[in-house]
Amino acid sequence: NLKQLIDTLERDQKLSSEEYALLIESRSAELSEYLFEKARRIREQHYGTDVYLRGLIEFTNYCKNDCYYCGIRRSNKNAARYRLTKEQILFCCEEGYRLGFRTFVLQGGEDGHFSDTVLIEIIRAIKSRFPDCAITLSIGERTAESYRAYYEAGAERYLLRHETADPDHYSKLHPESMTLASRKQCLWELKQIGYQVGCGFMVGSPGQTTAHLASDLIFLQELQPQMVGIGPFIPHHDTPFAKEPSGTAELTLFLLGLIRLMLPAVLLPATTALGTIDPMGREKGILAGGNVVMPNLSPRDVRDKYLLYDNKICTGDEAAECRHCIEGRMNRVGYQVVVARGDSKLINQES
Ligand code: 5AD
Ligand code: FES
Repeated sequence: NLKQLIDTLERDQKLSSEEYALLIESRSAELSEYLFEKARRIREQHYGTDVYLRGLIEFTNYCKNDCYYCGIRRSNKNAARYRLTKEQILFCCEEGYRLGFRTFVLQGGEDGHFSDTVLIEIIRAIKSRFPDCAITLSIGERTAESYRAYYEAGAERYLLRHETADPDHYSKLHPESMTLASRKQCLWELKQIGYQVGCGFMVGSPGQTTAHLASDLIFLQELQPQMVGIGPFIPHHDTPFAKEPSGTAELTLFLLGLIRLMLPAVLLPATTALGTIDPMGREKGILAGGNVVMPNLSPRDVRDKYLLYDNKICTGDEAAECRHCIEGRMNRVGYQVVVARGDSKLINQES
């Protein structure tokens, strides 16, 4: 019985990979509603109806990697490349602070121009100007030594999606220069250093099977991350996956619900990709157990250059517009955005 499996997941916070696969394969609208109700209840036990805001600052779209799915991959000669200066980044934070953001996510491609020295200077500058704010880094794979240096400079959180927990599937999404083993190692190192860590994966990426998704869920069980970012795969026209179909909002939402049951206190964003594939995607993500939204704080003139996939929403909007749009969207489904750092309620055991 499928509902019993969901009850078991709620009780034990874990299932076997076969059980996850069965739930995913056999899901229905009715089962989803059963799951989402539980997910909302658990989320409200930990976070009430609060929704945490993260201000996303896309500070470079240069990238040395060549992921087959990503619009800012190195081989995309049509991408207009840009980098923000420290002053521009601080300006985004300034505006974000005024709008009530207390977490800034510095996200970028893997760009060697941003050396440890440069990054540390940026982290220190943000921390000294906004001591009550959290900094999240999302800049890909670096050495443990570098990760430690950013942590010491004041970055406390790190997002690094594992993309898929199956090594063969990983190699279908990435060139040989990238491996799942190295991605996982980075995640464990980040955790060990003491970061609040976020992993995550795309839903419906080319070649993905139910068994792959079950592995993703098992990996979450093992890593016990503080945050999990998932969103549908959406093709980008200048990538090898241009002609591949998108993932669905429906499956993404079901997985969000499962993740909330598995990791009751997890920080779980209703992502921009989910809002792109479905105009009500972010609201539905919150109603499936999500508790975070990450509006864009990047300067307007670079927004349409940070395109990981086609038809990305909000590329023409000012930060203030997104802030108010999100506030209204959350209110209309019974939740409210809060002015808070929104730290994880799970602390690292080893740190
Ligand atoms: N569709 C959906 N998500 C994508 N990402 C990158 N390219 C795409 C795409 N085409 C996601 C990856 C990455 C995050 C920053 O964006 O999961 O980790
Ligand atoms: Fe950007 Fe709605 S969040 S316009």
